[in-house]
Amino acid sequence: MNVTHQGKSRHYRTVWFDKARNRVRLIEQRLLPHKFKVVSTADYRETARAITDMIVRGAGAIGAAAAYGLAQGARAFRRRGLKAFERHLAKVHHTLAEARPTAVDPLNAMRGMLAQMTGDTVAGRQQQALAAAEQFAEDDVAHCKALGQHGEPLIREGARVLTHCNAGWLAFVDVGSATAPMYAAQANGKSFHVFCDETRPRSQGAILTAWELAQQGIAHDIIADNAAGHLMQRGEIDLVITGSDRTLGRTGEVANKIGTYTKAVLAKRHGIPFYVAIPLSTIDWELESGQAIPIEERDEDEVLSAWGVTPSGRRQQVRLANPGSNARNPAFDVTPPELITGIITPLGIFKPRQLWKHRAKLGQAAAIC
Ligand code: MRU
Repeated sequence: MNVTHQGKSRHYRTVWFDKARNRVRLIEQRLLPHKFKVVSTADYRETARAITDMIVRGAGAIGAAAAYGLAQGARAFRRRGLKAFERHLAKVHHTLAEARPTAVDPLNAMRGMLAQMTGDTVAGRQQQALAAAEQFAEDDVAHCKALGQHGEPLIREGARVLTHCNAGWLAFVDVGSATAPMYAAQANGKSFHVFCDETRPRSQGAILTAWELAQQGIAHDIIADNAAGHLMQRGEIDLVITGSDRTLGRTGEVANKIGTYTKAVLAKRHGIPFYVAIPLSTIDWELESGQAIPIEERDEDEVLSAWGVTPSGRRQQVRLANPGSNARNPAFDVTPPELITGIITPLGIFKPRQLWKHRAKLGQAAAIC
C-alpha cells in the first residue's frame, strides 16, 4: 500500500526479496507508527529470527518471509550434490517452520515451494525456489484483492466495523485480509467507520491497524479491548471482520489473535455478523480439531510491560504490572464455527462448516491468479 514517509508517498510491500544480495527486505514493524524503516536479513537464520521477534508478523507476511527465507537458504548453498542440498534445505525448512507455531501460512508456503523444486541440478532448484517464493507473494496479493471484492458488499454506507489485531496489509504482502473489504469499499466511495481493538499485549490494533487506516484516510477510533461489548450493547457496531492465522478446513474453527473468541461470543450475544477474511494459504486441511492447533505462548514480559516513545522520541519499555507478579501470555485463541457468520475467501463467502465441502476448489490456491 502507499506509505507517506518523509513527505513522499510511495508504494511498499511488507516483505520482498533482494535477488542481487540474497537478502530478505522487511518493514521493521516493531518501530511503527513512530518510525518507518526497512531492514534486511543476511541469511535464513536472521530471517527466522525476524519472524520470531516480530519484525515481520501476521499470517501472510510471515508466510512470504518464510518462503523468501527458504529461497535465501537454498541460494546460499555453495557445495555440490543434490543429496547434500536436500539435507541443507531440510535444516533451513526446520528453522523457518519453528519460528512461530500458530500460523499455517509459512508451512503451506514452504510445502508448495518444495513441491515445485523438482529440477535435476542444485542450480535449477535454487532458481525454482526463488520463483516459487515470488509466486507465493504474488498469490498472497491476488488473494487479498479478490477477497476484498467479495467482502466489499458487507460494508454498507455508514457502517461501523469492528476489527481485531492487525489483519491489514502489514500482516500480508499487501492489501490485507480483514482490511481488504474496507479498502474496496473506500475505492467505491463508501464512507464508514472502523473501530480498532487495541489488542493487548502487543497492541497491533492501536499501533498497526490504526497507522494503516490513517495512512489510507479511513475514519477510525482505537478502543480498549474491553470496550467492544459496551459498544455492541449500545448498537454502535454493525459488523465484525477479523483475520485468521489458521482456519481448519475440516471443522471451520478459526485460530486468530488472542481476544478474537471473546469478540465472537459478544457479537453472537448481540446478533452482530462476525466475518473472518482469509487468503487460501491460511487454510489447514489436515488438523481435525482446534484443540490440536499449536497456540504460541510468548514471553510474559509482553503482558507485564509495554513499549512506547518518550516525548523526545526515544523508544522505551516501561513496567506496567505489579513487581514480582508473573503472567500468562497465550498469543492466539480458537473461535468455533457456530460463532462465525462467514469466511470471506478469494473465491467467495462460505459458512465455516462448508469449507470442507468446497475443498477441491479452495485447495487450489494458485487457481485464483
Ligand atoms: O502475533 P501476530 O501479530 O503475528 O498475529 C497475527 C495477527 O495479526 C492476527 O492474528 C491477525 O488477525 C491474523 S494475521 C492475518
